[in-house]
Amino acid sequence: MHYNRLGRSGLQVSALSLGSWVTYHNQVDVKAAVELMAAAMDAGVNFFDNAEVYALGASETVMGEALRQLSWPRLNYIVSSKYFWGIDRESSAPINRKDTLNRKYLMQAIDGSLKRFGLDFIDLIYCHRPDPHTPIEETVWAMHSIIEQGKALYWGTSEWSAADIRAAWEVAERHHLHKPVMEQPQYNLLHRRRVEQEYARLYEDCGLGLTTWSPLASGLLSGKYRDGIPEGSRGALPSMAFLREGLTSPARNAAVAQLEPIAQELGGTLAQLAIAWVMKNPHVSTVILGASRVGQLQENLGALALRDQLQAEHMARIDAICTPLAA
Ligand SMILES: NC(=O)c1ccc[n+]([C@@H]2O[C@H](COP(=O)([O-])OP(=O)(O)OC[C@H]3O[C@@H](n4cnc5c(N)ncnc54)[C@H](OP(=O)(O)O)[C@@H]3O)[C@@H](O)[C@H]2O)c1
Repeated sequence: MHYNRLGRSGLQVSALSLGSWVTYHNQVDVKAAVELMAAAMDAGVNFFDNAEVYALGASETVMGEALRQLSWPRLNYIVSSKYFWGIDRESSAPINRKDTLNRKYLMQAIDGSLKRFGLDFIDLIYCHRPDPHTPIEETVWAMHSIIEQGKALYWGTSEWSAADIRAAWEVAERHHLHKPVMEQPQYNLLHRRRVEQEYARLYEDCGLGLTTWSPLASGLLSGKYRDGIPEGSRGALPSMAFLREGLTSPARNAAVAQLEPIAQELGGTLAQLAIAWVMKNPHVSTVILGASRVGQLQENLGALALRDQLQAEHMARIDAICTPLAA
């Protein structure tokens, strides 16, 4: 495993990490989570990503129980959560409980996560989306307060615009508050612009690190959707129907087919090639992998070996295939 500093912070995060979106509670129970996390840790993974909204809190409960069973020393692993949508879907008074980054919601949401995880603190917390209805200053102060209370160690954003990230960083700088140190954007062969262009100045100016999501574009880049939607895959889940058009797009699957010879030349699989490509970006502190079973995780961890084999010539060929389709 390689380790990178999380942006300009002193925290060392494994170059590959493991997330729980879609999978935990829905496809992965506690027993399977223990197997996946143990396999990841054996390979040197030290970061496990989560969010309050994943399975409406149940993903945190599953991960917390898995961590209890695994009994790892607390110094050896990093866990995260993210806040914005809230999980109170039943309440007749949902105001302040969803789609917000106001102080009231954030200060209560962290307590819910700590209880579900069964932890004293969470290492990384994220503002899961920007909230145009709350002043950025209020959100920055709330994240600072949570850290000062010892309930979290570092904070960052997910899918914020460069302008909003810079505004948050400047509020923190002005008031000597804990600054956002990381952003969690989508980044893969077919989704590049924000990371490569919009954020370009933030890496140096603010010391921003990236913890990127969906390296396989939800599985598409593994090649598994070339002949339709396989049974038991993410694309077959009723709750993931919104992904189907993208997963079965003929143009995207044709591009995936063109990548196959490059993967073969390097002695790897399509999934490994796609993940290794994300790791090549020096601003990526960690690539958050997703896996519904251990075999997938083992394959994806093999991307480490491919990373150093990917030369400028391969990168140029990959660019020629993917850039015309990439967002
Ligand atoms: N901040 C955000 O807004 C945000 C958004 C999304 C995700 N995330 C984070 O990023 C993590 C990773 O995202 P992701 O799950 O979308 O990653 P991904 O790598 O794009 O997709 C993972 C899924 O692809 C399939 N897969 C994985 N490896 C495979 C392989 N070798 N061969 C065939 N199929 C394979 C599995 O689904 P099936 O087996 O079910 O087909 C797996 O669950 C999430 O768990 C979450 O922690 C964050």
